[in-house]
Amino acid sequence: MRSSSAARRNQKLKRLKNRSVLLGVSGGVAAYKTADLVRRLKDDGASVTVMMTGAAQQFITPLSLQVASQNTVYTSIFQDPLTHISLPAQADIMLIAPATANIIAKFANGIADDILSTAFLAFQGPVVVAPSMNWKMYEHPVFQANLKRLLSLGIRQVGPESGPLACGEEGAGRLAEVAAIIDAVAAAMTEQDLAGKKVIVSAGPTREYLDPVRFISNRSSGKMGFSIARAALRRGAEVVLISGPTALKSPSGAVLRQVDTAAQMLRAVTEETEKGASVLIMAAAVADFRPAEQARTKMEKQRVRAIALDRTEDIITRIASRKKRPFIVGFAAETGPDLKRAMLKMQTKKMDMIVFNDVTEEGAGFETDTNSVVIIDRKGKVRTGLRSKDEIADAILDRYLKIKTRLYFPILLKN
Ligand code: PMT
Repeated sequence: MRSSSAARRNQKLKRLKNRSVLLGVSGGVAAYKTADLVRRLKDDGASVTVMMTGAAQQFITPLSLQVASQNTVYTSIFQDPLTHISLPAQADIMLIAPATANIIAKFANGIADDILSTAFLAFQGPVVVAPSMNWKMYEHPVFQANLKRLLSLGIRQVGPESGPLACGEEGAGRLAEVAAIIDAVAAAMTEQDLAGKKVIVSAGPTREYLDPVRFISNRSSGKMGFSIARAALRRGAEVVLISGPTALKSPSGAVLRQVDTAAQMLRAVTEETEKGASVLIMAAAVADFRPAEQARTKMEKQRVRAIALDRTEDIITRIASRKKRPFIVGFAAETGPDLKRAMLKMQTKKMDMIVFNDVTEEGAGFETDTNSVVIIDRKGKVRTGLRSKDEIADAILDRYLKIKTRLYFPILLKN
């Protein structure tokens, strides 16, 4: 029993299971990062076949990528007859990382003189490019025109990021983070069933300050909310992520609003919903109380006998009372299996759906990579069992879409 739940906890959502990725590596200094990229694509369930240009081989050897991919690496059109036709025919997606100015120019102008550019023309599925180069090259109007042409053909772009570049200069040109590249590949392979929707997600804890150095907070890591934001992005939504302090990296493509206190979260959620939103998902563990007074300077411990607390304003209740309100999904963090309090919260706060989360269950709740929830709405309940937070995020979004499109079959489960 223990070992099976441990195995479940370690189970990662394999977003690219049974998918075949044809990775083209062109000659930028970031090519050395592709060994890690290949390993992480495989971790996500993909099989990876690598093609390299001559210049790419100056930065990383074909042998390294052969070992990482456990597959033959292709470096020439003449290596095997008709490889440039057979490789694309077997692939589900083509990823070019790093994509240099040269390879993007070739793609945009139909030049086919190496294994990557010939395979590109022979490929009919989704293509993701991850540009990487000096910032002046990236901003050059000729390069931008080539990139625009590719984007107009439905090719997806991930990155580049801004920061220090290998040449010693600073600007937009760094290869996107490996995690962001894999998110982009997963998005390109996922049905865009949230396209056109704006999803606001809150995540993490809030901090309620006693003085400039002390605060009341809770154990939320932000993982549940960030998983929801990532899943919504992958499924094509516009995502605003409103997060309390966490150690997590914002998913690329989301608008991140960082807040500290419950009052700041209330302000951010109100502003974002006023701009219009399809759904608000409140995964944040917002503090229910804050110190009645906040000292300007550090309090002397000898003087503190008791701390008076005030209630914070309830964000969901405020948003739900508005005339034009989004679909509201709340969470209920409980310390036992009884669903009654969650059902009551859904009613009193006028939510459309609530995600019951018994945080005392093994592998569920705060800080873990897994969770186990019951998704409750007016028509029924879905018990997810212990799954990765990424999978729970998809289950919540699936349920939301089923309700919105009325395509849904109630699965009624006993309390
Ligand atoms: O961040 P992780 O480490 O991944 O952990 C995930 C989680 C346990 C934090 C998450 O799954 C979860 O349960 N989030 C809700 C925690 C919570 O505050 O629950 P609650 O039952 O106290 O609040 C009910 C709902 O009201 C929540 O949606 C909450 O965001 C909202 N609320 C609470 C207080 C407040 N002032 N305003 C609110 O809108």
